[in-house]
This record gives sequence, structure tokens and C-alpha cells, in this order.
Amino acid sequence: MLELNKIHNIDCIEGIKKIDDNSINAIITDPPYCIGTTSNGQKGDWQDNNLIRPFFRELFSECKRVLRDTAALYINTDWRTYPFLYPILQEHFNIRNLIVWDYEWIKAGSHYRYSHEFIIYATMPDCKRTFSASERDVWRIRPINYTSKHKLHNAQKPVALYEKAILNSTQEGDTVLDCFMGSGTTAIACKQTGRNYIGFELQEKYCEIANERINKL
Ligand SMILES: C[S@@+](CC[C@H](N)C(=O)[O-])C[C@H]1O[C@@H](n2cnc3c(N)ncnc32)[C@H](O)[C@@H]1O
Repeated sequence: MLELNKIHNIDCIEGIKKIDDNSINAIITDPPYCIGTTSNGQKGDWQDNNLIRPFFRELFSECKRVLRDTAALYINTDWRTYPFLYPILQEHFNIRNLIVWDYEWIKAGSHYRYSHEFIIYATMPDCKRTFSASERDVWRIRPINYTSKHKLHNAQKPVALYEKAILNSTQEGDTVLDCFMGSGTTAIACKQTGRNYIGFELQEKYCEIANERINKL
């Protein structure tokens, strides 16, 4: 089993293979959106999501293996990548909701300005609802100010977003997996709520940023 409460500087496919079967209580993760355009509509390098389908198929198959039968998954995505992820996730999990993360703010956007993203909420077969029956599928949480000098990663998410998912779907002492840790937001949310975490991040510079952030907490 991989060391808990550590961000491992390796590819998530390589890392997840080292995790024991049925050992993870929840996955909260934010894969690269792999979109063909940047936020202001410019063409980027990823023109064709078909190229990355085998990667996500293998990853989600491994996610299923490591998750407990009662586990939940929260996966950040946006309107362009959701149609790509949905059928792959459906092969392995019960997709329960498409949570709208309402920024209460506006970002770039060449026609209508972007003010929301999505979080796919999916579960393993024996997952029961552990949050209030009146919880809504629209979460109003301010994003990181991307022009702020405090921003650590271009795709950095607010800690409050992951804390809500963690508090809704895990218990103290549980273990949360994030395959795409970036600046370590999931690790911070876990530490603040008394959960364990396992994280993977490909880029050394983000591992360093995340570790510094965790050490400061
Ligand atoms: C959308 S960002 C995550 C941002 C994070 N939620 C935060 O708040 O900082 C995705 C991250 O996944 C990393 N990544 C991309 N491919 C990866 C892979 N195969 N294995 C591990 N990490 C990967 C990228 O370097 C990037 O930092």
C-alpha cells in the first residue's frame, strides 16, 4: 500500500496500481480538462479527446478496483469534457448527479462569460446518501481569484469546494484519493477535516508547491 498523507510525484496510472483493493473511501479529483481550446477560445494542443480515451478508461477501471463498495466520486469537469467523461464513467459507476459549481463570479468567455463548472457525482453500488436530504445540486462557492498573486496553479480550486464533498461523503479517518493533485487543494481540505489522503501529481514543481502549502498549514 502506498504511504498515506503524501503527494506522490508520479503518473497516476502508475501510482494507483500500487494501492490496495477496496481501500479508498472517496475519490475527489480534477483531471486536466483536455479541451481543444483555451478559456478565451484559442486553439490549444489537445484537438482530439479520442487520443486520451484509453488513459481514462484504464484510470477509471483502477479507481473502481481501489474504491470501497460504499464510496463516492467527485470529478471536476466542464461543458466541453463532460460528454467525453460520462460514457467512460458509466462503464464502472452509478452516475448520480451533475453538480453545478456556481462561481458567483464571472471569468473569461468570448461570448457569454463563464460563471460555472460541473462536478460529476458518482457512486459505487452500496453507497448510501450520508448528507442532508435537502442538499441541492448547485453549489455556490467563490473561485480562486486568478489574477491574485496568491494563486498557485492555473486550475487551482477553492478549498471550500473539496471540503464540502469530503464532509458530505466521508467520515473522520477515511482515506481520500486525488489522482491529479495540482497545488494540493484536496490534501489541504483533508487535513482540515481530519481525513487521510493519497495524491498523485506528474509535475515536480506542483508537488513542491503543494508540499510547501501543506507544511504551512
Ligand atoms: C486541473 S489540475 C488540478 C488542480 C488542483 N485541483 C488544484 O486545486 O490545484 C490537474 C493536474 O493534474 C496533473 N496531471 C496531469 N496528468 C497527470 C497524470 N497522468 N498523473 C498525475 N498528475 C497528472 C497536472 O500536472 C495538473 O497539475
